[in-house]
Amino acid sequence: MKNIGNKTQYEIYMTMQNPDPDRLPVVYEEWEQLAREKMTDGPYYYVAGGAGGHHTMNANLKAFNKWKIMQRMLRNVEDRDLSTELFGRTYPTPILHAPIGVQSIIHPDGELGSARACKELGVPFIASSASTVPMEKVAEEMGEAEKWFQLYWSNDPDVTASFLKRAESAGFSAIVVTLDTPMMAWREYDLKNVYLPFLAGEGVGNYFTDPAFCSKLEKSPADDPQAAIMHWTQVFGNARLTWDDIAFLKEHTSLPIILKGIIHPDDAKLALEHGADGIIVSNHGGRQVDGALGALDALPGIVDVIQGKIPVLMDSGIRRGSDIIKAMALGADAVLVGRPLMYGLAAAGETGVKEVMRNLLSDLDLTLGLAGEKSVRDLDPSLLKKDV
Ligand code: FNR
Repeated sequence: MKNIGNKTQYEIYMTMQNPDPDRLPVVYEEWEQLAREKMTDGPYYYVAGGAGGHHTMNANLKAFNKWKIMQRMLRNVEDRDLSTELFGRTYPTPILHAPIGVQSIIHPDGELGSARACKELGVPFIASSASTVPMEKVAEEMGEAEKWFQLYWSNDPDVTASFLKRAESAGFSAIVVTLDTPMMAWREYDLKNVYLPFLAGEGVGNYFTDPAFCSKLEKSPADDPQAAIMHWTQVFGNARLTWDDIAFLKEHTSLPIILKGIIHPDDAKLALEHGADGIIVSNHGGRQVDGALGALDALPGIVDVIQGKIPVLMDSGIRRGSDIIKAMALGADAVLVGRPLMYGLAAAGETGVKEVMRNLLSDLDLTLGLAGEKSVRDLDPSLLKKDV
C-alpha cells in the first residue's frame, strides 16, 4: 500500500505505447455513466437516487467543496502512510466498504465480488443485513480478512438477536447498527419506477436463512417465497426503538457496537452516554431524510462532542482522495465509500470494485503528499480553510 499513488500512475502511463483495449474509466463521472449504461432504470435509480428531491445528496457533495486545502511545502513527503487505527487494530487504509444491500441487482458478482475485491486490497467489507448472499457466505469468502456486519434492527427481537449471534460466530469483528432506517424513505424515483428489489426476493438472503425468521413462517421460504417476502415486509424495520434499547444489543453481542446515521451533536452525546463503541456520521448518502445537513458539515460538531473518546467514522459524499483528506482533517478516523464502489461493480463486477478502490487510494496517496502531509492520522483542521 506504501506510495500506491506513484505505483498506479506508473502502471497506467507505461501502457502508453500499448493501450489496453478493455480500459476501464478513471474519471468518477465516467464510472457513473458506464453504470447507467449497464443498468435498467429500476436498479440504476435504486443505487443512484435518494430521498425526495435529492437535496441531501447534493448537500453532501457541496459540503466537501466548501472546504479548501491549504497545501504545505518542503516537508519531505517521499514516504506516505495511509494506515489508521480503529478499536485497537491497525488498518492499512482509512477506507471501508460501506454496507450496501442487494448488490445482486447491480452485477451477478454481487456481494461476493465486492468482498473479494476488498480482501485483495485490505479494505474492510461491511456486510449488509440486506445482502442477497447470507452473511456466512460473505465471511467464508473473506476468510481472515477484516469484516464487519451491519445490522438492520428488526422489530422481531428474536431475528435481531439471531443476526447478532450469527455475525459473531461467522467471524465478523464489529457490528454497525444503522439507526436512520426504521422505515424506507419517500424515494421519488423508486416510486416512479415501481421498484423495490426486496419484493422480487433480492436482498433477503440473511432473513431466508435465519432460524428465528423461518420459525415464524408456515412454510419454508423455498416452498412459499411470496409468504416469506410478505413476512419480511412486516419485520424489517422498527420505528418504536429508543436510546434505552441499545442495552438489548449489548446483551446480545460482545463485539464493538458502532452507531451509523448520526448527524445531530445531541445524538452523539446520547451515543456516548449509552455506551456506543464508535459512531458513523452519515445521512445514508441522502437516501433517508431529504433536506438534511451534508454529512461533512455535521462532522465538526460531532467530533467536538466526542472529544476522541470513541472512533468517529463518516460517509456520504466521498468521491475522491481530497474528500478523504478533508473528512480526516476535520476529525474522522476513517471513511466509508458507497456509490463509487457500486458504479465499479455495475461496470465490471469484482474487477470494477477493485479498480475504483485502487484509484481512490492512489488519488488519496498523491493528494496527501502534495498537500505536504505524510500520514492520514496526523491530519488536522489547520490544513483547511472554509470557503464561505
Ligand atoms: C446503501 N446504504 C446502506 N446502508 C446501510 O447501513 N445498510 C444498507 O443495506 C445500505 N444499502 C444501501 C444500498 C445502496 C444502493 C446505497 C447507494 C446505499 C448506505 C451506505 O452504507 C452509505 O451510507 C452511503 O452509500 C454513503 O453515501 P454515498 O457515498 O454513496 O453517497
